[in-house]
Amino acid sequence: GKGDYGDPFVCLTFADGSRTSDFVFESSEVKDEKPTLSGMPCALPPSCPDDQTLHVILKEACRPTLRLHLFYTAYSAENVISRRAVLENGTGETVVINKLLSSQLDFEDSDYIMTSFHGSWTNEMNRSETPCSGKNIVNETRLGFSSNRANPFVMLSRPDATETSGEVYASNLIYSGNHYECAQSGELARLRFSTGIHPEGFSWLLKSGESFETPEAALCYSAEGFGGVSRCFHRFVRKYIIRGIWANKAKPVLINSWEAAYFDFDENRILSIAKQAKQLGVELLVLDDGWFGRRNSTKTSMGDWTANPEKLPHGVRGLADRIHDMGMQFGIWVEPEMVNPPTKLYKEHPDWIYHFANRVSDTSREQYVLDMTREDVQQFVYQMLDDLLTSYDVDYIKWDANRPISQSNLDRSVWYKHIEAVYDIVKALKKKHPHVLFEACASGGGRIDYGILGIFDDFWTSDNTDACDRLTIQDSYSYIYPIKAMRAWVTDCPNFISNRDIPMRYRFHSAMMGTLGIGCNILKFSDEETKLAQEMIALYKEIRPIVQEGDFYRLENLSEDDYRSYEYLKDTKGLLFVFLSHTRIGHRPLTLKLRGLKKDTRYKLTYGDQEIIKSGAYFMARGIDLRLSGDYASELIFISEM
Ligand code: DGJ
Repeated sequence: GKGDYGDPFVCLTFADGSRTSDFVFESSEVKDEKPTLSGMPCALPPSCPDDQTLHVILKEACRPTLRLHLFYTAYSAENVISRRAVLENGTGETVVINKLLSSQLDFEDSDYIMTSFHGSWTNEMNRSETPCSGKNIVNETRLGFSSNRANPFVMLSRPDATETSGEVYASNLIYSGNHYECAQSGELARLRFSTGIHPEGFSWLLKSGESFETPEAALCYSAEGFGGVSRCFHRFVRKYIIRGIWANKAKPVLINSWEAAYFDFDENRILSIAKQAKQLGVELLVLDDGWFGRRNSTKTSMGDWTANPEKLPHGVRGLADRIHDMGMQFGIWVEPEMVNPPTKLYKEHPDWIYHFANRVSDTSREQYVLDMTREDVQQFVYQMLDDLLTSYDVDYIKWDANRPISQSNLDRSVWYKHIEAVYDIVKALKKKHPHVLFEACASGGGRIDYGILGIFDDFWTSDNTDACDRLTIQDSYSYIYPIKAMRAWVTDCPNFISNRDIPMRYRFHSAMMGTLGIGCNILKFSDEETKLAQEMIALYKEIRPIVQEGDFYRLENLSEDDYRSYEYLKDTKGLLFVFLSHTRIGHRPLTLKLRGLKKDTRYKLTYGDQEIIKSGAYFMARGIDLRLSGDYASELIFISEM
């Protein structure tokens, strides 16, 4: 409202109806401690001693007791700066916040490409690149969740930037609700990049004496291309975002019942799966959807969270005890924010869903969304999960959310409060049950962001379990999310969604690039498949520290063929995964140039019966020639320092 016609950082309405605000500098200080002023959804923890926070205080020119605090924390080792804003109202009047973002950067020119990732169910994270000059580019979601439509992660790169070189700025919002990222090329061809809570549908009444704190935006810069950004962000997330015991603990190999059994199981079948899984080396069994009420389809029972006596005659406790007796951990699926219409829960509390009295309430996947802003609903969800964790000795919760929010109530702070409630419930449960691992899922990748990762421990990237498609999806997630956070299953063929047959070895290699899980009906495995699965799971356990904690490199494909190769390095060891979807006869082999090695150190590369010993400089400059043959061929190569 005051002469800067670019995308505004803050939009307020004052008691007199006016909307112009003008925040001017008041003071600033640099602190070693990271101050937290109010309970924002997912504040990063205080930074380590070397890192510092710049606190800038601005006051509104006409209402000096309305202050805007800007916090910049520098995580120097990771090349990351986090930025958030706090609006503090001391004016004696209520102020309406229509828009308050988390960060805003003004660039001197607009010669940048904006890279963002969009998608849909089973088609998550498609990379798109748009030149910024002369445009207003918005990456956004308004579904209530960060959503698979557009991830909040965005990069702004110089046109000559590549995977390995060139300048790249990147931003990710530490928040799981409606988000907004805007690259606006404005006056004199400058570029303004803003990110924060989506202003559309958002509104907050800030009473006098109160503050509103935005989520943090994590900002990164690298002069080493997209790969440089990824490694900085991976380190940052492992160090600051993933918390609790799972920050430093290896993630277990699991088996999940969904694709193996869908709704068609009972205790005996699950126990047979568990027994066989134990033989394969699996460490955790997760019972997916279908264990409660009369849930034999998506139409019913969600909200009535008591075990189906026909399927589980000894209840969840009976099953959990037997699984534990086998020496395995036990996990269970829930979808706590939702309810099906034909349930006791909905019958007793029809007013607990987001709805308008005179409209037909929207269903999606035959379910409604619970109004998580209500205290009684929050209490119900917390109690249900606390009972589950306390009475049944559960080690793992898969928290699903299979539809977006609609018909939210009249108060436009709902979108924010819903997410805050989810965070608060999981935080409270983790405080009481710190050993439990929480997996975030929203029909696959419907709510994957740094906010969810700061609260949960890992996430399910996609319901697309086709091993070949999955490589593309994992590749895109790997730009920002560390490998450790990504659950990946080996599932049966032909794949339920692509109908494609892919050899089991390739399927394992693809899933071993993340946190390994098995989604197959292992009761149908042939002896040969059982043997291969045993070998692969044993191998995964050996390489797990490198996969889950190592530095990650997307290697360039220097061949004409459809090769994909990825490198992991940790201390003196490393791995290369190489995939080829279709062999084409008469083509040159792949020249694989490694990255991140020490030039003067000698390394040994081993695969099959091959062994190559050369210097790091040789492997990075000349590389090795590798030819895979057959369709869906894959190779795992071991790297070790001599
Ligand atoms: C969607 C999830 O992504 C699947 O893995 C599975 O848990 C189903 N929901 C169950 O309804």
